[in-house]
Amino acid sequence: MFVVCTKMGKRDIIIAIDGHSSTGKSTFARAISIRYGLTYVDTGALYRGVTLLSQREKLNDLKDNKNLTKLQELLEKAVFEFLPTGPNGYGQLYLNGENIEEEIRSIEVAQMVSKVASIPIIREFVDSLLKKYGAKRGVVMDGRDIGTVVFPNANLKIFMTAKPEIRAQRRFNEIIAKGGNANYQEILKNVQERDYLDENRESAPLKRAPDAILLDNSYMTQKDQLRWIEKIVMERWGSK
Ligand code: DC
Repeated sequence: MFVVCTKMGKRDIIIAIDGHSSTGKSTFARAISIRYGLTYVDTGALYRGVTLLSQREKLNDLKDNKNLTKLQELLEKAVFEFLPTGPNGYGQLYLNGENIEEEIRSIEVAQMVSKVASIPIIREFVDSLLKKYGAKRGVVMDGRDIGTVVFPNANLKIFMTAKPEIRAQRRFNEIIAKGGNANYQEILKNVQERDYLDENRESAPLKRAPDAILLDNSYMTQKDQLRWIEKIVMERWGSK
């Protein structure tokens, strides 16, 4: 299940947003979903959800085939769904009926998720969910391989990036604003490690599709980004 935004009328298109971690892809994708009445699918949340499930079951070493097989069995039974319980009706991820939205954003999950996302059978599992979501079209998805692997025929592809120091600072500010504890250097290291793992893994590495439009938002506000996409949508599909 996933959230349908009906505000502006639904388009028959798929928008793929890929890019580095902590570039604000999900914030941007949500804004686009509201602006154009599209369904938003946070694909990274699914990799985080799988990571959380393996951590809870103490299956931390997934190089061990026994652990990986156990995780696969759990995934066959697991129900992942996005329900509209977030602020402004945003979709939040549920695992077997439990809201896991906050737990999947923890540093523990962040530290392990890139490794989990590099395992081909995990990618196959998530891709199969994404293809079901996309089959109805009218979606905006953010991730790492949406425009290159999951929906290579997406109508619009965007590749987002920003300087690592700026991304780490934004993440740091977010955690502090929520009243949490954060260490800037630790976050910066995590951002850089995730970039390296995402770009260098064998299975569906993060790369810019040749037809993806680059958006470096290092010095852009959310309003600037919305104006940027409005211009592109206007050029491609006219005013509506
Ligand atoms: O976007 P995010 O930070 O929530 O993503 C979490 C992790 O999942 C990140 O390390 C990259 C991985 N990921 C992926 O490999 N493919 C996707 N389509 C989305 C996320």
